[in-house]
Amino acid sequence: CIGLVLRRPAERLIRPTNRTVGNGMPEGVYNVRMSNDPIQERIDELRTQLRFHSYRYYVLSDPTISDYEYDRLMQALRDLEAEHPERITQDSPTQRVGSEPAAKFEKVIHPAPILSLGNAFAFEDLEAWLQRIGRVDERAQSADFTLEPKLDGLSVVLHYHDGLFVLGATRGNGEVGEDITSNLRTINALPLRIPLSAEDEVQPPATLVVRGEAFFPLDEFEALNRRLAEAGERTYVNPRNTASGALRQLDPALTASRPLTLLIYQIVHAEGAVPPTQWETLQFLKALGFPVPEASRHPDLADMVPMLESWEKRRSGLNYEIDGLVVKINEHALFNDLGVVGKDPRGAIAYKFPAVEVSTVLEDIGVNVGRTGVLTPYAVLSPVEIGGVTVRQATLHNFAYIQEKDIRIGDRVLVKRAGDVIPYVIGPIESARSGSETVFEAPGVCPSCGEDVVNPEGEVAWYCVNPACPAQLIRNLEHFVSRGALDIEGLGIKIVETLVGEGMVRDAADLYRLDREALIELEGFAEKKVDNLLGAIEASKAQPLERFLNALGIRGVGSVMASDLARRFLDLDALAQASGEELEAIEGVGPNIAAAIVEWFSRRANRRLLDKFKSLGMWPVGELPAEPQGPQSLAGKVFVITGTLSASRSEFKEVIESHGGKVTGSVSKNTDFLLAGEKAGSKLVKAQDLGVRVIGEAELAELIG
Ligand code: IVH
Repeated sequence: CIGLVLRRPAERLIRPTNRTVGNGMPEGVYNVRMSNDPIQERIDELRTQLRFHSYRYYVLSDPTISDYEYDRLMQALRDLEAEHPERITQDSPTQRVGSEPAAKFEKVIHPAPILSLGNAFAFEDLEAWLQRIGRVDERAQSADFTLEPKLDGLSVVLHYHDGLFVLGATRGNGEVGEDITSNLRTINALPLRIPLSAEDEVQPPATLVVRGEAFFPLDEFEALNRRLAEAGERTYVNPRNTASGALRQLDPALTASRPLTLLIYQIVHAEGAVPPTQWETLQFLKALGFPVPEASRHPDLADMVPMLESWEKRRSGLNYEIDGLVVKINEHALFNDLGVVGKDPRGAIAYKFPAVEVSTVLEDIGVNVGRTGVLTPYAVLSPVEIGGVTVRQATLHNFAYIQEKDIRIGDRVLVKRAGDVIPYVIGPIESARSGSETVFEAPGVCPSCGEDVVNPEGEVAWYCVNPACPAQLIRNLEHFVSRGALDIEGLGIKIVETLVGEGMVRDAADLYRLDREALIELEGFAEKKVDNLLGAIEASKAQPLERFLNALGIRGVGSVMASDLARRFLDLDALAQASGEELEAIEGVGPNIAAAIVEWFSRRANRRLLDKFKSLGMWPVGELPAEPQGPQSLAGKVFVITGTLSASRSEFKEVIESHGGKVTGSVSKNTDFLLAGEKAGSKLVKAQDLGVRVIGEAELAELIG
């Protein structure tokens, strides 16, 4: 037996350390092999650093450097490798997307069968299972168990030789799978080399084949669908099929554009010693640098009950889908001796949760017009409870989806809700049809303005192209006046609708040219109300640049990004002239946001709108950040703000920053506090997942003192 060298407890190796050197690397990891080749030394050093930071980010969700610094390191390595292509190795961090599209997938014979699992639907089924296997081998009667989430993704098998990732395959039929190595390489959480650094004292067996589940995190899935919908492209139906599709297509560049992740839970085959129990296997895999699922250990089934309940409660708040839990005999020797029935090992069983799918009647199909003019159909449902929430509407994605699934009004349909993802209609139950169902016809005109709709070539979406379409305008204005933007008090959706309906407002700038007398003529607009409204509108002219920028509704520019941009450019003209490259150099601005900003300012209608604001004297400019004043009680603390609070997010941001804190846009393990108001969504889920402290306004006040 060679290979397994466990010289100190695995847990000590992976505990985050505060002692760091250089780029946030802990001592030890930084050391690289000495050679008298300075270029190779620099390449090795960059690779070691990148591997380490990628592990912190994708596996531990606990980065110690900014994305920007990471990108700089990556670029430095890319540059060096471009100069010295002969030094590119397969495990270099630059090689996650390196291969050309494949013509077809090669077959891979698994070194051992990739087994499936039998099912239990209630605790009694687990007891019956234990009795059954106790009759096969009486040691099972006193066995201990592990409990893991049953991840709803795609089973993958990864091969490592001398610590290098050399081959990755799908499960296939359990005996033979497909070679999807190039696609798997693009998953950042997948270690291209184990252990993490040469310094690590846990060494893998010379040959190691592991198995896990690749999946789409729910927040990423939603974000992807939002982007696709905005771009008029087909949205994806569910995270599982999307993950599977992304891994089973031939172009790795496409897979790379899908932020998949994975968790590894099994050693399928090893040439060398491996731990004797499932529990230690998970620790061992983790120490090697693999992401592993959260697991627990139990001396008997009864001990598991609180954990079964706790998972079921947590289920809808997780950032990934699980369809149950997996109970496994902890001792591998016993597990193996128990053998297999068909494709299911006797020594493990899936404890399935009740479905989050229910059926209900599709009463009608409505059509929304979004800010960009995209028409999106939605289902109007007979109210139905799914996982403790009453669902009345669900997404139907796009018109093509309704047609492909042959969804008819009046149909009994299956509806699914998972985590925080918006519920969606899976499809009709055709056997329940009475014949009175009606086929839905996509509207030939915009349901809001009655103008023509178009379906641009290559897109799945239909658009209303009328720039004056009231539905689009109303959405835009709603955002413009909202609390985080220009915060115009008293100007709610009803008034916005009236003003647009009366033709008094054709764009946001028109709000500043409203005529007092004409307003008083309107029904329900008393003098006092009109004066208050005009006063609030006038006052909004003094709002700072960052709010104005947020109000413009540029894709990807929310309040946090708007204030970063305002601080950096100080003036809209300067921002309008910024190139994509300049924008991308700003922390937090990726290529998509940079492109969206450039595109927004290049549109003639938007430039005209800005000119109109300018001629109205509404042209806020930023100020250079003032020297901090007052006690810096939040110094060094990183906050994320979410949900509805008693004032706008930007006001809370100002308060936090004036006390020395920093506010960022997304939750990571670097986040110290999530300030959460009502209706907090996926950020709250992520914070809970990562163990980030969640506070309310009162606690913030306490922190500030
Ligand atoms: S163990 C002998 N553990 O569930 C090992 N499977 O319905 C058998 N799955 O095909 C599998 N999470 O793709 C195991 N923590 C977990 C799992 C898991 C998800 C999947 C796996 C398997 C399917 C069985």
